[in-house]
Amino acid sequence: MVYIRGSSKRTITVVLGLCVVFVLFTLTPYSDKALSNLPDHGFRHSTEDQALEQERRRKQKEQWENEHNMPENPYQNEQVEKPEELNKQLFENPPGHDNGNTNAPSNDEPRQQKQGKPSPGQDEDSPNDGLPTEFLEFRVPSSSQQIMETKIGASRLKEFLAEKQNIEAREVAVAYILRQANVAYRNNTVYSVVNKPETKIPPSGDIHDYTSLARYFWKNPKTPDNLPYIRLDGKPNPDMDSVWDYRLLRKMFRDCYYMGQGYFWTGDERYAEKIVYRVKEWFLDEKTKMNPHLKYGSLIFGNPLGRAQGVLDMFKVYGMFDGLKAIQGSKAMQREPELIKNLQSWFTDYLVWMDASIQANQEKNAHNNHGTYFTVQYLSILEFLGRDADAKVMAEDAKAVRVGPQIREDGAQPHETIRPISFFYSTFNLQGLILLAIQADSHGISLWNHRGPIEDKTIRINSSKSVPIKVGGGSIEDAVRYLSLYAVRDPSEWPYPDSGTRNERDVLKMARIAALVYGKDKWEELIENLEAKVDENQPGEGEGGEGATTTTADDGDPNGFICELGVLSKGTLWHCYK
Ligand SMILES: *[C@@H]1O[C@H](CO)[C@@H](O)[C@H](O)[C@H]1NC(C)=O
Ligand SMILES: *[C@@H]1O[C@H](CO)[C@@H](O)[C@H](O)[C@H]1NC(C)=O
Repeated sequence: MVYIRGSSKRTITVVLGLCVVFVLFTLTPYSDKALSNLPDHGFRHSTEDQALEQERRRKQKEQWENEHNMPENPYQNEQVEKPEELNKQLFENPPGHDNGNTNAPSNDEPRQQKQGKPSPGQDEDSPNDGLPTEFLEFRVPSSSQQIMETKIGASRLKEFLAEKQNIEAREVAVAYILRQANVAYRNNTVYSVVNKPETKIPPSGDIHDYTSLARYFWKNPKTPDNLPYIRLDGKPNPDMDSVWDYRLLRKMFRDCYYMGQGYFWTGDERYAEKIVYRVKEWFLDEKTKMNPHLKYGSLIFGNPLGRAQGVLDMFKVYGMFDGLKAIQGSKAMQREPELIKNLQSWFTDYLVWMDASIQANQEKNAHNNHGTYFTVQYLSILEFLGRDADAKVMAEDAKAVRVGPQIREDGAQPHETIRPISFFYSTFNLQGLILLAIQADSHGISLWNHRGPIEDKTIRINSSKSVPIKVGGGSIEDAVRYLSLYAVRDPSEWPYPDSGTRNERDVLKMARIAALVYGKDKWEELIENLEAKVDENQPGEGEGGEGATTTTADDGDPNGFICELGVLSKGTLWHCYK
């Protein structure tokens, strides 16, 4: 499993790498031309090159088999022995259509049922569909390796992967990714806004309008029509759960992200096919599509429109874009030449809505995590649309608008520390700033060392109270250090009221990114301390922003490794999916 090649091979790789750099960087990643040029499994390999590659993989396979006493599972044997044949076998079946499962997604009618039941006789825990479950280097498509080498640089990549800690991290990360991807792949229920009950259709009367319900608002017991709803702070209304638009939207993003990674690390086409299926189901198929706006996000019944907070619902769309990027070279994508164009058209309409929407503009003007994630969202959509010049302007603006005023000289984030659950929101916001810095990197703009001017400001806490604060003066590094230093101490030392959920693992991930960006030496000790803290506490289940308690927790995952590759590629591979 060592990442080593002969020197002649390296020369070929460098030359090929330059060609690839040219192709990848002169074309927008999603243009049709780029798509048709992008990797098939033998991406830009000469025949000789392919023979070398095959030989290398054969040796690796042999070595792996010796080390592991050969797999017992006959299906796995087959896969190891005859990858080509197995692939063929996969393509003859539509995604999910394996093992006699009749709930396979197809392009026909959306199924009406909400819960997919496994077919009789299917063991749900270990379905015999042969989906990969562990990292095996010889299964990583050469296209994926080429892409990484191109974007990161072969020597840097090799150096990174050779670190003992990273060899382990890769195995853990890929195994985790495959577990997520396999669950996603096997789920054949309909993900769509049209699942919501008729009684919860928003004021427009259109079931295709995305709707999520405000968390702390309840029916008014004193009026005959229960309007206007009243706010009971801190008391979530379980009625939220009657509308699944939010849950399914986030699930779809998450599924696409993990299946994209699954494809990237194993080349299993089934993941790519399922992503294509999910994307069409959510955005494009007439019967199930969502209209391109969030007018009714975080809606309180009785109001004509939803609230600004609802705009945050969409920010994780970058996970889906990352998934689509990871399957660019798949056969599934090649079979759908219109998909990206149609999806771009959806997001073009969505941005038109955002630009004009009061709700989105409120988010844009927010000084805290809402503002940060507005930019994360908007920027990833601009990138997906290939609007690089606009994306660059936005990334540059993020210095003065986001990073500068949000980090104080000591590294605290004043707009989050005034909030009730201050450690949690400081972590959440800093993750957003790091995401932004990774995004900005891909446009040649560095947010990593930006420090804004120190200024006196007032922050409005609620309608009747404002407090004076100092903002500016700190960098992202200062903020990571600040949180890291408190994360290793006792929670009672945190100088702000209520720290809320503390997820040390998330802080550790950020510290590892800091080590890559700012230098290992400065971070080594702190990382060791954080690791010890994480081991001591074991994984805490975290949350992820507004409305997040209704989602599957996706923290505690070892995606840090993938983040780090994203950072090394300066954001051109993928972002840090949290
Ligand atoms: C598929 O996803 C839906 C929506 O989250 C969920 O309700 C359902 O239980 C899942 N089905 C399976 C088989 O995991
Ligand atoms: C505003 O916040 C202050 C300080 O937290 C609190 O004392 C006050 O009751 C709040 N007022 C309203 C209207 O919520």
